[in-house]
Amino acid sequence: MPVPLRPGDRVALLTSGGDAPGMNAGLRAAAKVGTALGLEVLGVEDGYRGLMEGRLRALDMRALDEACRRGGTLLGSARSKEFPTPQGQARAREAIAAARLAGLLVFGGNGSLAGAHALAGTPGADGNELRVGGVPASIDNDIGCTTLAIGVDTAMNTIVEACDRIADTALSHQRTFIIEVMGRDCGYLAMAAGIAAAADAVLFREGKQSDDEIVDQVMRAIEAAYARQGGRRHVLVIKSEGVRLDSQRLKHMVDERIRARGMEVDTRVTVLGHVVRGGAPSAFDRLLAARLAAAAMRALRDGHTQFMVGWAGPGQARSVCAYDHHVTLWPLGEVLAETERMHSGDSAAVQARVRAMKEVESVLYL
Ligand code: F6P
Repeated sequence: MPVPLRPGDRVALLTSGGDAPGMNAGLRAAAKVGTALGLEVLGVEDGYRGLMEGRLRALDMRALDEACRRGGTLLGSARSKEFPTPQGQARAREAIAAARLAGLLVFGGNGSLAGAHALAGTPGADGNELRVGGVPASIDNDIGCTTLAIGVDTAMNTIVEACDRIADTALSHQRTFIIEVMGRDCGYLAMAAGIAAAADAVLFREGKQSDDEIVDQVMRAIEAAYARQGGRRHVLVIKSEGVRLDSQRLKHMVDERIRARGMEVDTRVTVLGHVVRGGAPSAFDRLLAARLAAAAMRALRDGHTQFMVGWAGPGQARSVCAYDHHVTLWPLGEVLAETERMHSGDSAAVQARVRAMKEVESVLYL
């Protein structure tokens, strides 16, 4: 049975891994809800690195109000190489004891949630196990058991805005653009933005295409566009960074085919990179972050541990929690196992995404 936290117990918030727009809105909600529940809420600086170094600080609510409008994370983040090691974990456990923490709420992606899972069994200051919760935050949308993670919506909007700008110049010059977007090994951002930006082709790792099949797909879109009489003669190809074929190499292979067919098509590559990860969070991301973080803080106060809050959606068996009718509570171990299946392609959710995208693909370039 979960043992609830008591008024005055200390809970720390930590952001880790790649920052995601909306993290600040999540921190703000967690800090306010936690304080209203009578807890003392602190912030850990720079993710697990700061935790190992015992760098915790009181939270300034006014600074959080302001930060809520901005991307990044007010607390700072890091990808610590030391934390996953036994020495790193031992340092973190000592720091947790020294800071007299009874709870820890981690905002981040796969690696960050794995870090939270590794803290299972850590003693908390109230004499019970440290309550550890996770809030999914990653622009990649590659976390299991949640249909959306914090930051995805903003990143998608940024990509679509960039594609609209590129489309203006592509149309003026009748060019083909290969636009590479972040997402690590997950094609979600490319897929969703591809439809929203009216791209002619979307390339994603989960499609498991050979290099030649990828070039065929791009050529189909180019030939369809250039066959139109007086119609649209520019092509946008959105390529997820997880596709192993390098974007410049893809351009080179496409250029060779274009030459071999005697066509005159100018191609360019734009890599959006970290532009996709920054910027003010969308209203939806602020709200998503606030709702997930508020539910997570309530769950932590009620004594739950080793859980992640997920955003409910179709195909999910688990019922929503008592704190929010759109939020589900999942054991962290289950989240990490499903995340692994998403990566290997064995997840039903990813298979459904790929099936849907293959159908979309056959109409995109018409
Ligand atoms: O996981 C978020 C993400 O932005 C990925 O899309 C990208 O592959 C990676 O982080 C980049 O990491 P870094 O900022 O450490 O270069």
